[in-house]
Amino acid sequence: MSASPNPIEQSFELAGSRRADLAPLVYQRLFNRHPETRAMFRSQGSELVMGSMLALTVEAILDFAGPRNGHFRLIACEVVSHDGYGTPRELFIAFFAVIRDTLRDLLGDDWSAEMAQAWDALLVEVEAFAGVAA
Ligand code: HEM
Repeated sequence: MSASPNPIEQSFELAGSRRADLAPLVYQRLFNRHPETRAMFRSQGSELVMGSMLALTVEAILDFAGPRNGHFRLIACEVVSHDGYGTPRELFIAFFAVIRDTLRDLLGDDWSAEMAQAWDALLVEVEAFAGVAA
């Protein structure tokens, strides 16, 4: 494994150095883009669930794009649980693009061509992975 972070990791690191908590930006974007998702979260305690969902998704993305130690498998498990929550497959996948777009806007001029390319590839791979999991 190389010591230098891959472009996906870099994008999270840079974003993290600018803003401690990505959750408000990510969910604001999700609710704007897919307004039906607002009502999908429980009315009490949803902040905890949403924070935890994002943190686990980021962990899974970093593992998927990096060492593949095992956290990436969450994606396949959650496709199935989210069928139970009534989240359509396309929407489930859309969450990854929402995270990518949040990072891109937050990074502004520091969003590099390598990051853009790595994220494009990741979104395609995640879609294939989640599709096969079902
Ligand atoms: C727009 C897409 C998505 C929607 C609308 C959505 C919706 C939800 C909802 C409603 C819950 C809460 C269920 C409850 O109240 O107990 C939940 C929990 C969760 N979601 Fe998602 N989800 C989405 C995408 C994802 C993705 C892509 C992942 C990860 C690959 C993920 C991982 C999780 C996890 C781990 C939890 C449990 C959090 C916890 O309680 O610790 N979700 N999701």
